[in-house]
Amino acid sequence: MYLTKEEERALNGEYGFAVQNSMEILVALGKIFGADRLIDVKSVQVAGVSYDNLGDAGLEYLSELAKDGRVKVLTTLNPAGMDMENWRGLGIDPAFAEKQIAVIEAFKRMGIIPSCTCTPYLVGNLPRFGEHIAWSESSAVAFANSVLGARTNREGGPSALAAALTGKTPNYGMHLDENRIPEVHVKVKVKLSSVHEFGTLGYIIGNQIKNKIPYITGIKSANIEHLKSFSASIATYGGTTLFHIKGITPERHKKPKESIEVGPEELRSALAALNDPEEDVDFVALGCPHLSIDELKKLANLLNGKKVKIETWIATSRQTKGLADLAGYSKIIEASGAKFACDTCMVVAPLKGRFKVIATDSAKSCFYSRGKNNFKVRLGTMEDCVNAAITGKWKVSK
Ligand code: F3S
Repeated sequence: MYLTKEEERALNGEYGFAVQNSMEILVALGKIFGADRLIDVKSVQVAGVSYDNLGDAGLEYLSELAKDGRVKVLTTLNPAGMDMENWRGLGIDPAFAEKQIAVIEAFKRMGIIPSCTCTPYLVGNLPRFGEHIAWSESSAVAFANSVLGARTNREGGPSALAAALTGKTPNYGMHLDENRIPEVHVKVKVKLSSVHEFGTLGYIIGNQIKNKIPYITGIKSANIEHLKSFSASIATYGGTTLFHIKGITPERHKKPKESIEVGPEELRSALAALNDPEEDVDFVALGCPHLSIDELKKLANLLNGKKVKIETWIATSRQTKGLADLAGYSKIIEASGAKFACDTCMVVAPLKGRFKVIATDSAKSCFYSRGKNNFKVRLGTMEDCVNAAITGKWKVSK
């Protein structure tokens, strides 16, 4: 892989430990994936923030980098393992909190904005069409590549951090035109109207085509919340980092020859597979990916004057919660007894053993609630989830 004189100096340690370590990671990755050179990135999003995943070894590594490492480009963080302000209210162990705070402090010393959200594009880390970036949260990667038309591979925590500390990434994979061409035509023959149905479509397509790039037709309209949910579930169930939806996503491509169809029957059976039969629910969690301000408005309307009966978490970014505070939505939501879980989510927080059955509107959250936390799951609309929060029972509204 070609390196400029400056990059060689960085690799030889002339700019300190953090830059040298980062260059070693980037060069090793570039060699593995056959990159011709390094390219500049406009922004970075770093995952691997929860102490639950990092452990002491991860914290030690970050503290070492933070001694002389400073980011070169706009860099934001994925959710942490707890709400950084209200962790006590969410039942987080103080010993865990102490370690999580140390993790965030190390990131801050490097100049990283502790946004702690998986929706960086909603809070100011918003790349333009065609821009090269290095992001690591899978749902945000799929959203950035597909909905925004930016270009990023799905980085691991260390490689994203290396990109932040150097402003560079190896030129391979999704950065190249030839790797962004769709491979399977997905004909959608069913009308989708809610966030959980778009998430379920991601489950169906992801399971069928794995990490191939789909070219999807038959979707007449989709809002940001639909696309955020779809990005999260197609990346979770299939591993793809890019999708194209005719008339909705910005890249123009020809239809691939290979095709599959998704109709009402596929949607019904996927919804059945994503739901366990449990009727009693003891935990409601909304916000996977983090809720937008429009979703918080809808939630405030649904919860207005009501009281929740079971633990209810509203995961969103602290920045979006700030808007909800200004608009008066937070007051209504909190008056119901629902709790904001800013900076974190129901998947990265250490919740194993605390609950048995979760209700959610996120197909991605179903996967991790089952796999990571051993919960049974109920998937439905935001209305269904609010009803479960108020009654402790699962009842589908439509
Ligand atoms: Fe975000 Fe947590 Fe879901 S990081 S996409 S809310 S698993």
